Order: sequence, then C-alpha cells, then structure tokens
Amino acid sequence: MPKHFLMCRPDYFTVEYAINPWMHPEAGADRDVAVRQWEGLKAAYEELGHRVDLIDPIDGLPDMVFAANGALVVGGRVYGARFAFPQRGPEGPAYLRWFAERGYPVLEPAHVNEGEGDFLTLDEVVLAGTGFRTDVVAHKEAQEFLGRPVVSLTLVDPRFYHLDTALFPLDGRNVAYYPQAFSPGSQEVLRRMFPDAVLAGAEDAEVLGLNAVSDGRNVVINAEASSLQLELKRRGYEVIPVDLSELRKAGGGPKCCTLEIRGEN
Ligand code: ARG
Repeated sequence: MPKHFLMCRPDYFTVEYAINPWMHPEAGADRDVAVRQWEGLKAAYEELGHRVDLIDPIDGLPDMVFAANGALVVGGRVYGARFAFPQRGPEGPAYLRWFAERGYPVLEPAHVNEGEGDFLTLDEVVLAGTGFRTDVVAHKEAQEFLGRPVVSLTLVDPRFYHLDTALFPLDGRNVAYYPQAFSPGSQEVLRRMFPDAVLAGAEDAEVLGLNAVSDGRNVVINAEASSLQLELKRRGYEVIPVDLSELRKAGGGPKCCTLEIRGEN
C-alpha cells in the first residue's frame, strides 16, 4: 500500500522558455511560492505514509521539478528518459545516474520518451501516450525492456501534451480520464478497457485535474478540480486537494512532480 516516490525540489524553477501552451515566459513564475506549494505536496505524501526520496536539482534545468518525466520504473527496472526538447535534455542522464548509483538496472533509451509523463502503469498493462512528446517507437522499446504489455494512446490536444495531463490510474485496474484529449480510436480503446472509468470534463482538465496521484484509496489532486473531486468522493475515494498553481504556469501538477519507484515483483 505505501508507495515510493522520487521528487525534485524546485530550487531552480522558472518559466523562461515555452515548450507547451501553459508556459508564458513573459509572465514568469514565483520560485518561492513554487517551493512552498511543492513542500505541501511532499508533506501530503508523507502524511499518507508514502516514502519520498529526493534527487538534487540542477541549476539551469528549471523543469527538473517534474520528476515524472525523469524515467519509468517498473519491477525494479529503470527505463530512462530521452527528452523531446533540448532545454530538458540533460535531465534524462541526471535521473538515470540517480538510479544507476543506487544499483538499479537501467536502460539508456534509444528513442524519445518522457518517462512517466507518457507511461502510466497498471497491474497488467502500461498505458503509453504519443502525439506530442514520446515517440511511439519508445512504447515498443519500453515493452521489450520491461516485459509488460504497452498500449499506445494518441493525444490530440496540445494543452494535454503528456498522457499524465489527461489520465490517471485510480488503482491497478481502473482510470480517470478526459476523453477529448485522445484521438477517436484511442477513446474507443479506453472505453473498451475501462468501462467503469471516471470521465472528467473540460473544466477539470483545464486546471490539470487529471494530473493526480492515487494510491488506490487516496487521491492527491489539484484543488481547483472541484467536479472531479466530487465524483471521486462519490466513488468512495479520499480526496486530498493540493495547491500547485505556480507549477501549473509550467504546465505541471501533482503527478508531474512525482516519479513512482516500483520495486521488483
Ligand atoms: N514544462 C514541462 C514540459 O513542458 C512540464 C512537464 C510536466 N510534466 C508532466 N509529467 N506532465 O516538459
């Protein structure tokens, strides 16, 4: 039940380039507020009994706070990230080094992929996003390395450029998602795979409400996603709202700040 997370304090957080539609460098962002909000997220995980490890932030990598993009860890194996934009390029090796130094088997990827931003792991399958960042060939590479079936889903709305901005696992078998973020074929795949899914509307998606982290009972979710929170409560989940408004100025929410380390099993 307790989870193991890797996070990166936003000590060098800025919005100084724009690689997604949420980012407006001219408007900037307040680093102190970002750090305070991030501390709130970390504290929420620790209060739930989850373990949080930290990777040292690197000066000049303002998006390194978004740890989800740093790798994909399943069954104790670490599939490294290879970023689509050069601004984030050095983050891939930095995260891979963190794992290698701790003895994890790691794979340096041949193909562009942004870690858990585009790979979400369920009990029997890994869901993988493509369309904006992760190359569909990386889905195959991950499947071969991890030995888990990987299902490709196509994202079509630039505001939801990573899979984790449009969908989150509620537990090992079910998900919540915003259908309009996906191509018609991928919507049909999701309908078939998850007939009992929680479907979110535009208002919740537009505050990055789908960028949430569930441990199967508790859902840590952006405070502004009010309809989605009501529906989750109705389904019996405990809702833990967090304010990450400053990090949203870079296009990130709770899940983006959180890389799950899944052990051997
Ligand atoms: N500014 C970052 C980017 O565009 C935000 C990453 C958010 N991470 C995520 N897992 N969705 O790459």
